[in-house]
This record gives sequence, structure tokens and C-alpha cells, in this order.
Amino acid sequence: MTKSVVVTGANSGIGLAVALELAHAGFDVIGTVRTAEKAAALREEAERTGTAVRTVLLDVSDATSTVCAFTEVAQMTNGGPWAVVNNAGVAQPGAVEDVDDERVRRQLEINLVAPARIARLVLPQMRQRRGGRIVNISSVSGRMSIPLLGWYCASKQGLAAVTDALRMEAAPFGVRVTLIEPGAFGTGIWERGMALLPQRQQSAYRDQYEGARELLRNAGDLPGPRPVARTVLRALRARRPQPRYLVGGVARGQAALDALAPTAASDWAKSVAVGLRTPPARVSRALGLLRGQ
Ligand SMILES: NC(=O)c1ccc[n+]([C@@H]2O[C@H](COP(=O)([O-])OP(=O)(O)OC[C@H]3O[C@@H](n4cnc5c(N)ncnc54)[C@H](OP(=O)(O)O)[C@@H]3O)[C@@H](O)[C@H]2O)c1
Repeated sequence: MTKSVVVTGANSGIGLAVALELAHAGFDVIGTVRTAEKAAALREEAERTGTAVRTVLLDVSDATSTVCAFTEVAQMTNGGPWAVVNNAGVAQPGAVEDVDDERVRRQLEINLVAPARIARLVLPQMRQRRGGRIVNISSVSGRMSIPLLGWYCASKQGLAAVTDALRMEAAPFGVRVTLIEPGAFGTGIWERGMALLPQRQQSAYRDQYEGARELLRNAGDLPGPRPVARTVLRALRARRPQPRYLVGGVARGQAALDALAPTAASDWAKSVAVGLRTPPARVSRALGLLRGQ
């Protein structure tokens, strides 16, 4: 029987790539999106590439919408999906002190509370069938903190902690739980992040925000999200998936460096990268030589 997989936030970026990759691999994909227009566009895109995706409307930050969506999914899948890929997410930029409570709560609600709420809704049926998969899309930021992105990192580190606990809790019932940790890929999350940058004129970090805007504008140069989609497919196909999959050479390098370097050294490197610290002239010259400038 065809296995059903729900992918949240399936209309763009990584979610769209995952939905199409899984549909082409023969899964019965149900993509969740926030509006009827986005649902129609997703179905059309699937059709255009020679496959089919079913759609359900869902705002993951709304508990009622989530219950309604998963009730509909249960009807569409004879009781409940075989797997869920919790992909929907946002990245709230800004210094820790510049992000207000409302935006902090929204960041944590979408990236951390929502995947746990969805797990709560699908687990009883998975347990009953003694099988199922939950794949949570975290980030390399779930392993390390980056200045001016602290609340996003907090949401992903929280997600990593909850996913690790859930993996151990669900395993005796035959349910496998996996964390995907991508590095940076070229998706709409960067442009959306630009709109979320704190607007405070009196911010102590306004110069760095200008630098961040410049970086975000160049996000189009990043590689497309297909490697993440292929990793999700690999995790779903594996009889025994790995607990975590880091995606991309840069993510693997960053994670290894962050784990091995003394905290003071990695703090310094990250602070230089976001413009909070200026490297001494001789280090700048050496970096320039390395870059061939
Ligand atoms: N791109 C990267 O470099 C990168 C790296 C590591 C991890 N990730 C993670 O990958 C996931 C997907 O991000 P992306 O890069 O593909 O970004 P994206 O293109 O901006 O896609 C985000 C998706 O999440 C949906 N979403 C946002 N808020 C939602 C809500 N309240 N309810 C339902 N859906 C909602 C969006 O729907 P709308 O279109 O309706 O807003 C969209 O479909 C996120 O969890 C992100 O943290 C991304």
C-alpha cells in the first residue's frame, strides 16, 4: 500500500522540494499550506512536474487549525498518515534584546510548539499501527548559537531537544523520529527574514542589521534545497533511519568547528562574521590573501 506523508509548509522552499521529491518517489503526499491559492499552486506545480500532491489548509501556529487539518488528514488516510515531515518554519532575526515578546512567542510557537502539537495528534494512531515516522526539520543552528539570530537558534535547539526525547519515547512503539539539520540553502526564508528585522532606530545593532540586509539580499547565490529533500527521502526509506542528518558540506564543517573550537575562539569568529567585532588588520590582510584579493 502507498505510504502517506504529510509535509507542512509545502508551498515553498524546502517544503516544496520535499513534497515533490517524495511524490515522485511514490509516496502519497499531503502538503499543508495556508491558503486555497497556495494549495492550487502546489497541486499545479506537482502536476507540471508529472506527479500529484494532495493538499490541506493549516496554520501551524493555530491549535484549532491544526486539529481540523489532522482530522481531515485522518479521513484522507484511513486513520492517520504513515509519516509527518514538520517543515513549516520562520527565522526571526535580531539581537536578543531587540526582539519583543510577541515575536519571540511567534518564533517558538511555529518552530517548536507546533511540531510537538502535531506529534501529539499523530502518535496515538502510529502507536496503534506499531509503525510511523516523524521527521523534524531543524537546522545547523540547532547545534550552535549565532549572534543576531539567537531566537531562531533557541527555537531549533529546543526542537532538537524535544526531538531527541521523542525519539527515545516513541521507539519502543515502532515509531522512528528523525532530525534533519540543513545548512544554508536558497529559499524564501531569507527574504521573509529581512521583513522581520527589528526596525528600532535607536538599536545598538543597527549597523549590523544593515550588513545583515546586504547578506540576505545575496541569499539568491545559495544552493537550491534539493539536497535537503533527498535527505528526507533517504530517512523515510531507511529501515533504521539515523537520529540526525546534517545536510551540506558547510553545515558539517560548521558543526565540527563549533564542537571542537574553544568557545572563546568560535564566539570571536561568529562575531566577526556578523560585524560585531573587527578583526585586527593583519588577520584581515591574511583573509584577503586567502580570498585572492
Ligand atoms: N533555507 C535554509 O537555509 C534553512 C536552513 C536550515 C533549516 N531551514 C528550515 O527549513 C524549514 C523550511 O524553510 P524554508 O527555508 O523552505 O523557508 P520558506 O521558503 O520561507 O518556507 C517556509 C514555509 O513554512 C510555512 N509557514 C510559515 N509559517 C507558517 C505557519 N504559521 N503555518 C503554516 N505554515 C507556515 C510557509 O508558508 P507561507 O508561504 O504561507 O508563509 C512556507 O511554506 C524551516 O523550518 C527552516 O527553519 C531552512
